[in-house]
Amino acid sequence: MSPPLRKVVFPVAGLGTRFLPATKVVAKEMLPVLDRPLIQYAVDEAVEAGADTLIFVTNRYKHAIADYFDKAYELEIKLAEAGKGDLLEIVRSVLPAHVRCVFVTQPEALGLGHAVLCARPVVGDEAFGVILADDLIRSPGTGAMRQMAELASTHGAGVVAVEEVAPADTGRYGIVDAEPISERAARIRYVVEKPKPEQAPSNLAIVGRYLLPARIFDLLESTQVGAGGEIQLTDAIEELLHEREVLAYRFEGQRYDCGNKAGLVGATLALALDDPELAPLVRQAAASRGQN
Ligand code: UTP
Repeated sequence: MSPPLRKVVFPVAGLGTRFLPATKVVAKEMLPVLDRPLIQYAVDEAVEAGADTLIFVTNRYKHAIADYFDKAYELEIKLAEAGKGDLLEIVRSVLPAHVRCVFVTQPEALGLGHAVLCARPVVGDEAFGVILADDLIRSPGTGAMRQMAELASTHGAGVVAVEEVAPADTGRYGIVDAEPISERAARIRYVVEKPKPEQAPSNLAIVGRYLLPARIFDLLESTQVGAGGEIQLTDAIEELLHEREVLAYRFEGQRYDCGNKAGLVGATLALALDDPELAPLVRQAAASRGQN
């Protein structure tokens, strides 16, 4: 049994080049899916999993994320005075009262592994979660991070989220070789970052959710620059596997890679179709587009 998950790291210091020019001024994680920015979906998932300390690894251009989670006094007073209680509730529910946010800076975008290492002084010596907000996961019931925390707690092991990808796409992900231990979980034998399809051990790809022991920080300290000239989290996980068990978990839910346009559109349409007010409008728009 592991202690409950308390701290979750959100690496949000990437450059977001696939959304230029918007990301010249808007952090990728602030792009909205319907009325909420991507980072809000990620934070909700972390809080549902039990986290009360959210650590954002940002860069000097991403003040909007800190502003978003800050209390908006003026706005709240105006909404209260105008009797707009429903909107006030929406603004306040961005962050539950018991949850605190900590911001650390990644001085240079040296890769995901390096971003996670920047959170070390705040995480300290306990197991922690990592959520990449641009991987939005829409789960039918329990969120993906909570599903993973439950697995970690029964096995006392690290857990990474995986999903099957098209064999042609292995070069975009960390790919695992793993031995199944249950319907959704497998014990990882090894991981390899961005292998060519002919070199990939499987088509099970690591996606943006991790539950890791603090030991990963020691390993990240000595991780050399890897694929793409970046310090890769996957390379440190491969080192960790020499010492202890890490499980691959096929979560229940649908992932949308909102780091690219197709994924953001997919997530927006899926969530709009879940909404009774928006669903008919989306269908109507699609039908009329088909006629033109
Ligand atoms: P991506 O690979 O999606 O990179 O990072 P990116 O820079 O955000 O976007 P593109 O490829 O230029 O369009 C995966 C996650 O890791 C974070 C990103 O913010 C994103 O959540 N990251 C990546 C960092 O925090 N720091 C880095 O140095 C690299």
